[in-house]
Amino acid sequence: MFALIGTWEMSRKGVTLGRETLMQGGFAGDAVEEAVRCVEANPDYVSVGYGGLPAADGQVYLDAAYMDGDTLQCGAILSVTEVSSPIAAARKLCGRKTNWMLCGEGAKQFAVSSGVPLKDMRTPASQKRWQEAMEQKKADDVPAPYKGHDTVCILGLDENGHMVCGTSTSGLFLKVPGRIGDSPIPGCGFYCDARYGAAAATGLGEDIMRGCLSYEIVARMRAGQSPQAAAEGALSEFVKKMQELKEDHLSISLIALSPDGRYGAATTEAQFPFTAALPDGVHVFSCTPKGEHMDITSASPEEMSRLN
Ligand code: GLY
Repeated sequence: MFALIGTWEMSRKGVTLGRETLMQGGFAGDAVEEAVRCVEANPDYVSVGYGGLPAADGQVYLDAAYMDGDTLQCGAILSVTEVSSPIAAARKLCGRKTNWMLCGEGAKQFAVSSGVPLKDMRTPASQKRWQEAMEQKKADDVPAPYKGHDTVCILGLDENGHMVCGTSTSGLFLKVPGRIGDSPIPGCGFYCDARYGAAAATGLGEDIMRGCLSYEIVARMRAGQSPQAAAEGALSEFVKKMQELKEDHLSISLIALSPDGRYGAATTEAQFPFTAALPDGVHVFSCTPKGEHMDITSASPEEMSRLN
């Protein structure tokens, strides 16, 4: 069995590429990196990598992480500019005993020294988006989460039972420079333990980090829950707690994968698309809250064109 599970429809091409690697018996880490790189390189996906969402100063600051589920080793880069593939740099940090989470200039220097090319990650479209926001004086407001694609998260399982996960994002639109979300933080934006499963989150990092939701999902799988029950349970318990605190309007979507290739998803959004590259093909699913549970259905061709 192998599987690659990705957040949002934007991960479809990437998981399709990564699936080729897994079909040839390749390592989950290679497939995860390929899938994330594919999204990072595409400027049409405006919340990840090249052409990502700018911060309040107009610069694109990127966060990424990579975790190996066999060793629980991680690599992460935070708030870095000009690194052409943040996931490649994060992966190169994975395996270190110390200094595996680097931010800013240090992360950029590491990327250069380890062979990840630098590139201006702003595009004319990202600069226009920032310019328009400035003209509307939106920078003075509390920035709302970008309504659309957010972090690309990929969970991978290969034929040899290795599990890996990777995340990459430009973070919150118009964020304060230096702001970090959930995506590069273990336990929050991602977690992977090959004995029990992997999970990752997308949405507003400030919400997700307060629940350590990725770790919570894996802990629930460790206790015997299916990925779907674990994702739903972790989310609904957190939402309930936040409602007690009179904090709502949460923006959180979650994916989960078990070591035997079952997967699950949960969301606070009206609809959360995710992808699954499996031995029988590549699928796009739509996750929709329905009462206490989530409805997971195949995305129709009509939905697919809307999601593109
Ligand atoms: N989930 C991405 C972020 O909040 O930065």
